[in-house]
Amino acid sequence: MIITTAFDETEELIVKAKKLSESLNVPYIARNKKTVKYMLEHKDAQIFVVNNQRGLSYYEKGHDEIFFHPNMAMHRIKQIKSGQSDSLVTACQLKEGMTFLDCTLGLASDTLVANYVTASKGKVISLEKSFPLSVLVSEGLQYYATHEKPEWKSLIDQINIVHTDNLDYLKQCPDHFVDVVYFDFMFNQSVESSHGIKVIKPVVSYDMMTKEHVTEALRVAKQRVVVKSSYGNHSISELGFTIERQNQKRHFFYGVIEK
Ligand SMILES: C[S@@+](CC[C@H](N)C(=O)[O-])C[C@H]1O[C@@H](n2cnc3c(N)ncnc32)[C@H](O)[C@@H]1O
Repeated sequence: MIITTAFDETEELIVKAKKLSESLNVPYIARNKKTVKYMLEHKDAQIFVVNNQRGLSYYEKGHDEIFFHPNMAMHRIKQIKSGQSDSLVTACQLKEGMTFLDCTLGLASDTLVANYVTASKGKVISLEKSFPLSVLVSEGLQYYATHEKPEWKSLIDQINIVHTDNLDYLKQCPDHFVDVVYFDFMFNQSVESSHGIKVIKPVVSYDMMTKEHVTEALRVAKQRVVVKSSYGNHSISELGFTIERQNQKRHFFYGVIEK
């Protein structure tokens, strides 16, 4: 894995790329007017590109450009602000001041909503196993707050992303560490997913919920463990979750275990 700049490298982009290279401990390679295709073939098969359009993009051999923009979450937060309900908030019974462990960050839509609802008095920790995705989301959020919507900066600064396997993380948490532990693993490949999720498919982890996740989550949660899953996934009730299908039209449901 390497970090480089956009084709039209400027001094500012070079400084940013070198800074990121240091903080992520990923080598910086000068772009030298080479195409991404050339870089993927001759330099490395996984490349971060610091640019002006998105802030940061990621390329892997054989796949399209991947970048992050928090569109979806911002839309959900606007709906909550206007008094509408949100299915995650309802299933988790989230309120201001609560602590929430999001075990599957993905595109940070649920994380942003949870941060908004629990607010500055609460705390949200968001775990992501995919290194490229954890970096794209962290950097993408900062880019959005700096270049597009400074009014979201305080909410975005609240976000706490940890690159880790969620089971490893849960195992080192003390008992009753947070109010709610939440999982939203990737749905079965055949289930239709949002456009955003389709784009990140090459870089995500396809781990599945196991009995061990449930045991650890129940130890770590004070109030409840919640899982989002696709309709037809019967293993969730076998793991002890009560199914809450809030909207019959949706292809997903929430499973809840109350403590
Ligand atoms: C469906 S997405 C989550 C979507 C997210 N709830 C949102 O609002 O955008 C699932 C994410 O969980 C991550 N993941 C899968 N297994 C994991 C594990 N064992 N530990 C941490 N993250 C994991 C995947 O890499 C993927 O990014």
